[in-house]
Amino acid sequence: MKNKDKVIIYDTTLRDGEQSPGASMNIKEKLEVAKQLLRLNVDAIEAGFPIASPGDFEAVKLISSEVKGPIISGLARSLTKDIDVAYEALRKAKRKRIHVFLATSKIHMRYKLKKAEDEILFQAVEAVRYARNRCDDIEFSPEDASRTEPEFLAKVVKAVIKAGAGTVNIPDTVGYAIPTEFGGLIKYLFSRVDNIDKAVVSVHCHNDLGLAVANSLEAVVNGARQVECTINGIGERAGNCSLEEVVMGIKTRRDIFKCATGVSTTEIMKTSRLVTRVTGIIVQPNKAIVGDNAFAHEAGIHQDGVLKERKTYEIMSPQDVGVEKSKLVLGKHSGRHAFKERIKELGFDLDERDAEKTFERFKILCDKKKTVYDEDLIAIINDEIAEAKEFFRLNTLDISYKTGATPKVTVILSGEKGKISKRSSGDGPVDAIYKAIDKITKIKGSLLDYSIHSVTSGKDAVGEVIVKVGFGKGHIVNGRGASTDIVEASAKAYLNAVNKVMAKKSPVKTGRLI
Ligand code: KIV
Ligand code: ZN
Repeated sequence: MKNKDKVIIYDTTLRDGEQSPGASMNIKEKLEVAKQLLRLNVDAIEAGFPIASPGDFEAVKLISSEVKGPIISGLARSLTKDIDVAYEALRKAKRKRIHVFLATSKIHMRYKLKKAEDEILFQAVEAVRYARNRCDDIEFSPEDASRTEPEFLAKVVKAVIKAGAGTVNIPDTVGYAIPTEFGGLIKYLFSRVDNIDKAVVSVHCHNDLGLAVANSLEAVVNGARQVECTINGIGERAGNCSLEEVVMGIKTRRDIFKCATGVSTTEIMKTSRLVTRVTGIIVQPNKAIVGDNAFAHEAGIHQDGVLKERKTYEIMSPQDVGVEKSKLVLGKHSGRHAFKERIKELGFDLDERDAEKTFERFKILCDKKKTVYDEDLIAIINDEIAEAKEFFRLNTLDISYKTGATPKVTVILSGEKGKISKRSSGDGPVDAIYKAIDKITKIKGSLLDYSIHSVTSGKDAVGEVIVKVGFGKGHIVNGRGASTDIVEASAKAYLNAVNKVMAKKSPVKTGRLI
């Protein structure tokens, strides 16, 4: 790859990313992230702002001595004391960079710095010269560049390159720019700054309008060859340009960008998870590339398409970003194709009839429950297979239950001869149901053990009931039933035991038909 075809990835997760409200990391965590960034093969790590705090200083110092490979960069205002402290922290780095910045927009110069243009120009040049006397690799950022008068910006850029800056970074500090406008600004600098070829043009975009990645990519189209970004897009306010999105954008649309990064994209997911863990900032499920749903399909048409040919609905392969495989999420929009694939994956070999019946049960469950997990499916399948050998099937439960009063139930079972209904009462609703079932089946069981557990989590979880029922002398049978309604699961479990015992006896005599 020729140099002009390479986009340098400058990761600022540990500096600008750490400026996310509530995201501070301790020194051990910062080192862990820096080591993972090394595996991700970023070109530069902005390890911190050494003058900002003793903790930042120590982190930059530790990363400088422990992480060899990428450039290690430290931020400094355009002040000699900042530059000295940054250099001190970076001393042990094999490849060190001092990143000097100074605001150049009218609003920042007037209200924040209270300085005129010529004073700013002078301070920027002096700072770059001073830093360059200590370190060969200097980056300069005219803060709030996107709101700076373009002519003044061009003047500053030219002057700092002349003073020794090898990288000039153009920040959209407040995330105000629009892609065509920001790309135009980069193009303008290439046309107006006659020594621009002596430096790498970098961009640093914030996400206040959700355009940080789009602005960075448009800058690349217009000649920028360094992108500053953070893992998961964390950073000040709405965050920074997301590393994973910009890298995968360049990789996936190489036809447009005609350049590449050196990032080992298969490390992306691992890095994202690590940053989530150490910062506590959770990635939204629909976040591009690293969100939980980035490679998940729920719609039946999409699932069918992906199963036939992945590229019908996937523009990247999940393995390219370190995700094992795409997920076909089973929910109410899923179709038979994905459902049957999943039950096969779970190790079931159902005949057409059982598969169809299980699919119908699954669809009913989907109306009650947002996501159907594998455990739900297993419970349904076990239940359905058990029911396939049924003499009696639960049809209706009608329960009247009031605290302090004896519960009364009406149970309707479907048998070979039709529906049978019986009423009963008992110590509790479950006891009453079991007595009503005994009346219908004319088989007396005694409950020896009863247990219930939830097979998935949440209020809408499927509950599984397992019972041990004694029938006559020493004849003990287990039964199981599953449902989102635990009373129904209890009835099914008992009925399952009854059906098992009936399968061993002569055909049943049924009770009253309704
Ligand atoms: O957003 C910004 O302008 C910055 C600079 C220090 C580069 O973070
Ligand atoms: Zn920033």
